[in-house]
Amino acid sequence: MESSGVQKPGFFLHLGARSLWFRRFCRLVLLLCFFAGVGCRGPEDLEQNLAIQRFRTYLRIPTVHPDPDYQPAIEFLLAQAKEIGLSTRTIEFVSKKPILLMTWKGSSEEKLQSVILNSHIDVVPVEEEKWKYPPFEAQMDEDGNIFARGSQDMKVVGMMYLEALRLLKDRGWSPVRDIHVLWVPDEEVGSDDGWGRLYTSKEFDELNAGIVLDEGDDSLFNNSYFVNYGEKAMWWLVIQATDGTGHGSLYFDNSASENLFKSIASINAFRDSQMALVRSGEKTLQEVVVVNFVFLNSGSRTPDGYTMNIQPSMAEAGFDVRIPPTREMADFVNKRIVEEWAPKARNMSFYFTCKTETKDGDVPISKADDSNPWWYLLRMAASKLNATLIPRLQVGGTDSSFARLRGIDAFGITAIQNVPPLYHDHNEFMNGYEFLKGINMMVETIDLYGSFSDSLNQES
Ligand SMILES: *[C@@H]1O[C@H](CO)[C@@H](O)[C@H](O)[C@H]1NC(C)=O
Ligand SMILES: *[C@@H]1O[C@H](CO)[C@@H](O)[C@H](O)[C@H]1NC(C)=O
Ligand SMILES: *[C@@H]1O[C@H](CO)[C@@H](O)[C@H](O)[C@H]1NC(C)=O
Ligand SMILES: [Zn+2]
Repeated sequence: MESSGVQKPGFFLHLGARSLWFRRFCRLVLLLCFFAGVGCRGPEDLEQNLAIQRFRTYLRIPTVHPDPDYQPAIEFLLAQAKEIGLSTRTIEFVSKKPILLMTWKGSSEEKLQSVILNSHIDVVPVEEEKWKYPPFEAQMDEDGNIFARGSQDMKVVGMMYLEALRLLKDRGWSPVRDIHVLWVPDEEVGSDDGWGRLYTSKEFDELNAGIVLDEGDDSLFNNSYFVNYGEKAMWWLVIQATDGTGHGSLYFDNSASENLFKSIASINAFRDSQMALVRSGEKTLQEVVVVNFVFLNSGSRTPDGYTMNIQPSMAEAGFDVRIPPTREMADFVNKRIVEEWAPKARNMSFYFTCKTETKDGDVPISKADDSNPWWYLLRMAASKLNATLIPRLQVGGTDSSFARLRGIDAFGITAIQNVPPLYHDHNEFMNGYEFLKGINMMVETIDLYGSFSDSLNQES
């Protein structure tokens, strides 16, 4: 953006004030620029704002799957840490998948548990032709909307942490307990080489974490923030019917496909009932079981198709199942699977290709009420900005789940208001003014978390 004269109308104004032809030329360029859908320039105050400029620089680093190059982002972040005065360390469990840790040491002599501010560096792929602006140029329109992949998920969050720390440093503030900013790879592809390695490592133990903040969801409102305190369990279920093979010209009962279709009918009826609860407003998406069809597999294969006169002896189907994280709900779904969706009596079986890990049989969640001091402090931070917290479950997965498996509280909060959620969507954007507002929320939060001197009765 900085390199293009077209996007700097100020440049023309200086040179062309006296020339009619030049003014006409300018108008033409601006017109072309308008029709091409190019955001010529954002509001002047935002263009000049250093926090906005740093945010846009980070957005222009294409840490995009399937093959993200993390090094340029790490270099940018290291430079930021140096400016702010945070110490840094990189951990590389897997080659080319660096984890960057920034630390502001607390002043306490006691070994108080630390605050971790987590953000993933990677972003999901783009279909560039469906974007209004190029997805890695961070162009800003006249409303201050900055278009880029990662502008919501979740580069905005990482940059809000850093800008808040910078402001606190400038104010002469310093923390009592350690504050760590953690930059991780590969969240968007399941975290195997990121948090998946980190959470059981001695490097993580050494951080002595008490609370982890991570990504959440934008709020559509001006006076509240969504805070995710847990995630639904994810079961990737395959149900399989066997036996009952026969000639394609015959009618007989209990073929594999017939048995599978009975199950699919039962699953669809259940799915309809859950969708109806959401549609009627009786329940939210967070509160119901979500079951979605993923694949169907059957048939006797030939090199170029299927044998057409055999009723196959095996038929299977896969489903993505998301379950509210209580034992009752898990038992409820399990009973359905055993009795209705894959009953032995119908020659059916089932297995999971992936199933959310549990801790002592439960999918752990963090307590989102004032009995939890981390919740209370977050609520106090929001109240300083006249905002309330709306606790809820995350419908998808985030790295917070790894912290919770270790018994550490984690809250997912993207402190952005009044911006429609466009996670993984085309034309993902972040509003610059809302980003600056969000930095204030992070300042208040880090202030309260970092100054909190209670040892919380930890083992000492
Ligand atoms: C939030 O505030 C902005 C600016 O005052 C306003 O334009 C917008 O309509 C408000 N949004 C909601 C959901 O009230
Ligand atoms: C189960 O498989 C057996 C063995 O092929 C068959 O005799 C029986 O009819 C099947 N039952 C059902 C309900 O599919
Ligand atoms: C919060 O509301 C109070 C009372 O209406 C007001 O004085 C204050 O400026 C508001 N603070 C913010 C950050 O909006
Ligand atoms: Zn994310």
